[in-house]
Order: sequence, then C-alpha cells, then structure tokens
Amino acid sequence: MMVRKMKFQPNNKIKIGRNHSCPCGSGLKYKKCCLGKRKKPPSAFESTKDFYYRQYKIRLKKKEDIEGIRKAGRLVTETLDMVESAIKPGMTTDDINTLVHEFTIKNRARPAPLRYRKFPKSTCVSVNEVICHGIPGKRVLEDGDIANVDVTSVLEGYFADANRTFFVGTPGEDAKKIVGISKESMKMGMKMVRPGNTIGDIGWAIQNYAEGKGASVVREFVGHGVGFQFHEAPQVPHYGQRGDGIPLIPGMVFTIEPMINLGKKELRVLKDKWTAITKDGSLSAQFEQTVLVTEDGFESLTPYD
Ligand code: MF3
Ligand code: CO
Ligand code: CO
Repeated sequence: MMVRKMKFQPNNKIKIGRNHSCPCGSGLKYKKCCLGKRKKPPSAFESTKDFYYRQYKIRLKKKEDIEGIRKAGRLVTETLDMVESAIKPGMTTDDINTLVHEFTIKNRARPAPLRYRKFPKSTCVSVNEVICHGIPGKRVLEDGDIANVDVTSVLEGYFADANRTFFVGTPGEDAKKIVGISKESMKMGMKMVRPGNTIGDIGWAIQNYAEGKGASVVREFVGHGVGFQFHEAPQVPHYGQRGDGIPLIPGMVFTIEPMINLGKKELRVLKDKWTAITKDGSLSAQFEQTVLVTEDGFESLTPYD
C-alpha cells in the first residue's frame, strides 16, 4: 500500500497536521486517530486487544478469523500456482488478468483489486522496471522478462494478499539476481516475526540483507495489516531500525512485501496514477505473503517456498 507520510514532532513548536499520518503508526490520518484523544497506557483493566486497537488501530484476529483468512490464503496460493504454470512469452498482461479473474470467481471468491480506489482490473501485473500496481493491458510478455503477479482474494468476507515474481521463458543474469534477492529479503523479514520483536526489526532485516547485496529498497510502498479489509493498520515498512515501532503480539496479521530494485530506490508513477516504475529504468522484483504472529513465531497464511 501507498505510505501516508508521517510528520514527526521534533519539538513541541511543530504541530502534526490533521491530515498527516498519525504518529502512533496506525496509518490513519491524525484527525481520524489520536487527535484529541487522551492516550492512557495499558492498564490491568484494559485487554491487550482493546489497547492495540485504541493505541494503533490494529484489529487482532481471533481463531475463527484466522481460519477464514487461511482459507482465503489457500486460494491465493493456488491462484499464483496456476499463473506460474500458465505464464509464457507471447501472452499479454491482460491474459494474466483474465486467468486470475476467472479462477477467483470460479472458486466463489472476489478479486479485491477490481474497482478498489478506481483500480480497473482484478490483479496487478508488474513487468521488469515496473515496481508495483501495473495495470493489466496490451503489453506482451517477452522471453527473459520478469513479471510480478499480485493476487488479493476475498473469500467469505476475509482478505488474503500475496504475490510472486515469475520468470517469463529463460531469465538473464540480472533477472536471476534481483528475483533471488527480493525473495530472500521477504524471507529475512518473515524470520523476524515473533512476539517480542517489533515492526522495525522486520524492516531492518530486509534492508540490511538487500542493501548488503547491492540492491535498494523502495520506501513509498509498505506492507499492511490485512484480513478484515484490504489495507488495515499497521503499516510495515521494508526498511528501518532494530527495536523500533510497534511490538508484535499473537493475533496480528499483516503482509511483508518488499519491493527491491537492482539500481536506485527512487520511483516515478505514470500518468495512469497507478503504475510505479524505477526512475533509473532498472529491474525491480517483489514477493509478498500474509503472515500471522503466533505464540512462538509466525505462520504464513499464503504459504509458498
Ligand atoms: N495487492 C497490493 C498490495 O500488496 C495492492 C494493490 S492495490 C490495487 O497491497 F488497487 F492496485 F489493486
Ligand atoms: Co499487500
Ligand atoms: Co498484494
């Protein structure tokens, strides 16, 4: 999801604008969140669930919610497997959209992207220098391309969100390199997910790994809470500092979806207002899974290797 810019308060003379992102990290506008509300610390009289909602606008998931998201997630994983076996040079990105749309409907689910904030298609297909939110259309996939397909399905009211970057035909060296780094980045982030660690630990692990390999991390798009809606609190940046941000607790469900560029991190959004491409034209790749924080670590609700 697109980051809502935070305005921090370096000293008490500078105010947070009503329309700026709330400094509590919820991703909501300040006026819709903490503005005017007194922030009490958690007390013996308030449940953790209530505290996480009041403080961060995070809706923890209970057992039956998790079962619902896991079921939606199973469908998302199957959809990506189906795309993997079908994707070939000569297909258009709209052909991929049709495959995803039909498969989703056939399985009694709804594609969340369709008409979401006026997005016109059922999935995002992002080729080569496209970072994310590629709108399916007439672009023809060529041998050696990399193509990210991002699938979010709503099944029985529950949302699950995942994506993978596929090789079209035979990959070149650069394609292999950036796809390998971005997949490993996501795994590094996932490995940090356990109670006691923070959102900042996830971002730190991803940034440390990707930059260590000479690649760069996109800042404008972040992971996000998911399950009851497409995009919920918290925001999950793919960069950051160890120990920063919201402490992870069981029942949190969010995505980890680092976008990693072979060149520089800067991006440009095309006139269609969706397609984000690397400013320097370098390749960009992404992998995404929906993860649940468990008592002793994490479980992917959209599992794939
Ligand atoms: N699936 C994307 C994500 O990972 C969001 C796509 S928004 C859309 O958050 F409108 F382009 F579908
Ligand atoms: Co997502
Ligand atoms: Co997604």
